[in-house]
Amino acid sequence: MKAIDILTREHGLILRALEVLSQAKKQIEKNQPPPKAFFDKALVFLRGFADQFHHFKEEYLMFGLLALKKGDAFDGPIGGLRFQHERCRACIDGISNSLTGYADGDDIATTTLLENLAAYISLLRRHIYEEDHTFFKMVEKELSREEEDILLMQFNKEDEKMGDQNFYDQNRQRVDEMETYLRREDTDGRRL
Ligand SMILES: [Fe+2]
Ligand SMILES: [Fe+2]
Repeated sequence: MKAIDILTREHGLILRALEVLSQAKKQIEKNQPPPKAFFDKALVFLRGFADQFHHFKEEYLMFGLLALKKGDAFDGPIGGLRFQHERCRACIDGISNSLTGYADGDDIATTTLLENLAAYISLLRRHIYEEDHTFFKMVEKELSREEEDILLMQFNKEDEKMGDQNFYDQNRQRVDEMETYLRREDTDGRRL
């Protein structure tokens, strides 16, 4: 597997989580708010997998290598992508800070949660589209075989630190569990 294929595969899982978050957003819009526990689980995924694990590889390893090898040639697109990562982090904090009030049924907290959720889903979908369709293609053209191998080695080291395939599988399971929360039904078959 090439370094960029690893990132693309991770995008697949993140997009699945965004789809589940989008369903949760629709449920809030229809006044059928998912339990706080759903968002607690979602935050573990968003912080641990999407931000710390995936964005770390891009920002510190891929962007770092590009800056080292290509000087300022990628400063424009990297600046844009880095800004989007930061805005996504701000949305995660916004979601997190609104959860106590949301669980208490506070309307301002629910509005704040919805606002950050909507922004996060939209920003990250566009961000991933840009990376998959434009940025990664550009990077693939620019990196030599040797540079690609360096990046792959660094990515593999990060994966090993987290427990290799186990970490990916744990997070895939987390997304499955998020989905299950939204499908919960009571004994009469009504969705809770
Ligand atoms: Fe990214
Ligand atoms: Fe990405």
